[in-house]
Amino acid sequence: MTKEERYIQFVTDYKRLISGETEEVSILANTSAAIRDEFHFFWVGFYIVKDGKLILGPFQGPVACSSIQFGKGVCGTAWKEQKTQVVPNVEQFPGHIACSSLSRSEIVVPVFVNSEVKAVLDIDSEHLNTFDNIDQKYLEQVTAILADTIYNKE
Ligand code: SME
Repeated sequence: MTKEERYIQFVTDYKRLISGETEEVSILANTSAAIRDEFHFFWVGFYIVKDGKLILGPFQGPVACSSIQFGKGVCGTAWKEQKTQVVPNVEQFPGHIACSSLSRSEIVVPVFVNSEVKAVLDIDSEHLNTFDNIDQKYLEQVTAILADTIYNKE
């Protein structure tokens, strides 16, 4: 299977997984687990916007930084710029926050609710150049499904 075929299957399974669920924590936790299970990334998780900062949410992987300021690191940049950040080599991203020295490439996808960033999905890889426009396309679908399921019901 190509990476794209895996993502297409993943999105179908993922919709089924969270369908009918309403609890934010449960959905974010299962989303992290489902992505990590399928793609075996080093770290998969969420930072949630709270009190003007990003706060560590449900994740799968090693312990991580518990809060990130607006505009800082890859996560804070995705929040500030309101767009997905694909980082082929974290050492070349100015201000990258190294929660683990093993992380070498990264993608951060905003979760939008009514055009505002409510959280970010952060995925780290131990390898360089792990993420490309295919990851971006399907992970943006995942965050859109998630936002619809959790937040648009509020
Ligand atoms: N590298 C991120 C920090 C979070 S950890 O990767 C889990 C950043 O620069 O925002």
